Amino acid sequence: MQRFDNYETDTLNAYRSRQRAAEYKSYHTKDWSWARICTWREQRLLHHELARYSWSADDRLLDIPCGTGILGKLLHSFPFHIIASDISPEMMDLARVEYPADRLLGCVQADITKTGFSRCSFACIVVLGFLHRVPLDIKRAALHEISTLAKRVVIITCSVDSPLQRLKKKFLTIVRRRHVSAPCPVPLQDIIIECEAAGFKVVRTVMVVPFLSAEVMLVLEKRL
Ligand SMILES: C[S@@+](CC[C@H](N)C(=O)[O-])C[C@H]1O[C@@H](n2cnc3c(N)ncnc32)[C@H](O)[C@@H]1O
Repeated sequence: MQRFDNYETDTLNAYRSRQRAAEYKSYHTKDWSWARICTWREQRLLHHELARYSWSADDRLLDIPCGTGILGKLLHSFPFHIIASDISPEMMDLARVEYPADRLLGCVQADITKTGFSRCSFACIVVLGFLHRVPLDIKRAALHEISTLAKRVVIITCSVDSPLQRLKKKFLTIVRRRHVSAPCPVPLQDIIIECEAAGFKVVRTVMVVPFLSAEVMLVLEKRL
């Protein structure tokens, strides 16, 4: 079941301290954690999906929300000029160093539902680890905004809800009392419908770690 009440405390304002930002970065990139394995796998898939297209230095990529810049390292092997954006300046402080310095146009504080960037100004937009944290109205507003900004390709991740994932969640909450799963997962078909309603063609869906993780990567192309 979706939780609608905690968006502001659990997501919008949750990462706005230096301590939380440092813990997040460490948990996803240094600690022996399941999140680190998923992040590693997510990066490999993302590299693979980006490499299917041909990109040039004229192409701008928007990483939103960029968090602590987990995506930054892999962008060293693509020619994009990059804008990283997040609501949390504390997260962005740790992100800056991860991107290729000569191609990072800036780290910009913005709300993903109303960014202020120009229409159709990004050839590629990547939205990782966000949509499954927020209720349906914020999912819709974010997808609508991303569709307005995108020219070509958008890659998103979202944890999906299914009987198998619910069973897994039940098991994990018994064996690992501190287990925290994504607050607002949705059935895969529902997120596909939302992406299509926002003006995208869904060209591929890939499970990040089949069966073991609920996270799915969706590759979207802007409909003309
Ligand atoms: C789970 S982290 C994901 C960060 C990054 N994409 C990653 O995969 O590591 C969620 C991020 O969303 C940011 N955030 C929350 N609400 C936001 C909003 N309305 N607009 C922009 N960023 C937001 C948080 O500050 C946080 O950095």
